[in-house]
Amino acid sequence: MIFTKQLLSSILFLAIASFTATGVSTPKGEWSFVRNGTTGITASQVIVVSPTLILMLDRVLGDPLQINGHQAWVELWNLETNTGFAVNAITNTFCASGAMISNGTMVSVGGQMVESPPNVTVPPDADGRMGIRIFEPCEDPSGAGCTLFEDPETLHLAAYRWYPSSLRIFDGSLMILGGTHEQTPFYNTDPENTFEFFPPKDNGQTRFSPFLARTVPTNLFPRAFALPDGKIFIVANNQSMIYDIEAQTETPLPSLPNGVHVTNPKDGTATLLPLSPPDYIPEILVCGGSNTSDSTPSEELSSQDPASDQCTRMTLTPEGIEKGWSLERMPEGRMMPEMVLMPNGQVLIINGAGTGYAAYQSVNDTIGNSNADHPVFTPVLYDPDLPLGSRFTREGLPTTDIPRLYHSGLTLTPSGNVFIAGSNPNPGVVENATFNTEFQVEFLNPPFMSRERPSLSGIPAQLDFNQKVTFSIDIPRDLHTNEIKVALMDMGYSSHAFHSSSRLVFMEAELSDDQGSLIVTTPPNNRVYPPGPAYIFVTVDDVTSTGVRVMVGNGAAPPVEEQGVRLAA
Ligand SMILES: *[C@@H]1O[C@H](CO)[C@@H](O)[C@H](O)[C@H]1NC(C)=O
Ligand SMILES: *[C@@H]1O[C@H](CO)[C@@H](O)[C@H](O)[C@H]1NC(C)=O
Ligand SMILES: *[C@@H]1O[C@H](CO)[C@@H](O)[C@H](O)[C@H]1NC(C)=O
Ligand SMILES: *[C@@H]1O[C@H](CO)[C@@H](O)[C@H](O)[C@H]1NC(C)=O
Ligand SMILES: *[C@@H]1O[C@H](CO)[C@@H](O)[C@H](O)[C@H]1NC(C)=O
Ligand SMILES: *[C@@H]1O[C@H](CO)[C@@H](O)[C@H](O)[C@H]1NC(C)=O
Ligand SMILES: *[C@@H]1O[C@H](CO)[C@@H](O)[C@H](O)[C@H]1NC(C)=O
Repeated sequence: MIFTKQLLSSILFLAIASFTATGVSTPKGEWSFVRNGTTGITASQVIVVSPTLILMLDRVLGDPLQINGHQAWVELWNLETNTGFAVNAITNTFCASGAMISNGTMVSVGGQMVESPPNVTVPPDADGRMGIRIFEPCEDPSGAGCTLFEDPETLHLAAYRWYPSSLRIFDGSLMILGGTHEQTPFYNTDPENTFEFFPPKDNGQTRFSPFLARTVPTNLFPRAFALPDGKIFIVANNQSMIYDIEAQTETPLPSLPNGVHVTNPKDGTATLLPLSPPDYIPEILVCGGSNTSDSTPSEELSSQDPASDQCTRMTLTPEGIEKGWSLERMPEGRMMPEMVLMPNGQVLIINGAGTGYAAYQSVNDTIGNSNADHPVFTPVLYDPDLPLGSRFTREGLPTTDIPRLYHSGLTLTPSGNVFIAGSNPNPGVVENATFNTEFQVEFLNPPFMSRERPSLSGIPAQLDFNQKVTFSIDIPRDLHTNEIKVALMDMGYSSHAFHSSSRLVFMEAELSDDQGSLIVTTPPNNRVYPPGPAYIFVTVDDVTSTGVRVMVGNGAAPPVEEQGVRLAA
């Protein structure tokens, strides 16, 4: 079942008479790209770790930022000053994954072995393939004193994982999926077809996945999502399935149509669409990638092969699965697109290339080193609530001239705009190539960034599940209060065209008669929103507030107990 706007309104926007204070409409502003700041590393992985801070992670190979007399590959970015500083890491975080866990700690896992000696001194134990890195909650707005903790001898994964993905699950732990063992030329020829968890389950053993085995050689960074019943949906290569963590069973789902592959090195992307009360029916959207055959060796592929413009969507109910994937097309093909859930429930599709592949130095006719060409410079918005055929729009969306190809990263910020950095389809730092190592930071500002916005106050720092919470809201008088959306969001961990753990759960909300407070009902349980940090954004008349950070659930270290009430089956 798809929620129409009307239905959503009737669920969320209870008994509020349509009200216009002035009748004069104030300009809603315009979308814009704004450059601000320069990173010291390539932002190939990006995660918001506090209301003011973004953690970026990269690679032991040439980033100019220095720490302790050697190259830095981790950087904290202060969104208040738009400047960054180096954070010490022990192991190589290149092509790692990660997420926040239930006690508010960020965990980064996997990475790369040390490459052919870079022209810098790095610690001898920098092999990051079993890396586990802990970034504890950082309360200083400037990040002062906040560090990344590693102890590779005693704290490490069970298997080598370069190019794994990961996500926070219903008990607040991290599930870690797949990866490869060694430097592979293009396809995953040395796969780690297993799952594991942090903190470990199964006495630290890995769990073999027949699904991952079936999806080689194009199954790196499997796109995985925690469903509202606690099971996991995974799409890799051209296949999909549901994994039941508790029963340890895999249920195959329909393959993607038309032979389109969507995981690295043929990166499309995917998202779980916003979940809405009362039923939180999960729908998955998968876009971009490539339809060239996996049996074609990379030297016979071309940087000019058109990327797929295909999007497919499936509702993960028995009836929805029976219907299978429904097809739609983006305005253009994209290799390595990124999807960002916006607080109003729309999906921003941005970045990537019109032709070619992820990775570098592998296809027949690279552009410099890049396997991809024809960067796509204009984002597009997808509105999941509109009827099939009318969901894509780029009206008012601006165009940049910075290519964001392989090894770029971006995230929604607590301010409600989008932080975009990185791109480096090169082995090391390259200047003056067609596709340089990119250090410029750019923000995509939605129209509301340039006008008066609703503001929220009095939100408790910690929220239980299935709880009614009242907080204050100050709504600019020109906004129509008959359309209010309250979003509870995880902004995800961006790595390789995938924002793992990113999630938007709409909450039922009631505006007080004096329009000064909102009564919001939190998600029913820890499966609808895996327990951990979140940001609350309120959108009134399509103008979104700044996000307010909360801890959802009891804030304990994983694995946490079941919380809230179960949904009726
Ligand atoms: C860049 O960010 C800084 C710090 O927030 C701000 O003072 C400055 O106005 C911004 N510049 C632009 C062009 O937005
Ligand atoms: C590393 O050093 C060698 C020898 O000094 C030099 O030839 C090479 O260009 C350097 N590489 C980089 C990436 O700076
Ligand atoms: C999926 O890809 C495999 C090769 O990786 C291919 O054999 C199979 O036919 C594809 N399935 C569909 C439905 O396109
Ligand atoms: C690489 O491209 C060239 C020029 O199009 C072509 O002649 C050659 O056969 C290609 N090589 C391979 C291995 O496909
Ligand atoms: C493969 O994708 C390209 C780009 O979208 C398209 O032009 C072509 O028709 C597709 N080929 C097949 C066999 O579907
Ligand atoms: C890149 O080009 C600029 C402008 O032509 C030049 O000043 C700079 O030295 C070049 N950098 C390298 C590494 O060649
Ligand atoms: C959160 O839990 C993890 C896993 O047990 C632990 O490593 C970390 O120190 C905890 N953080 C806090 C703040 O308790």
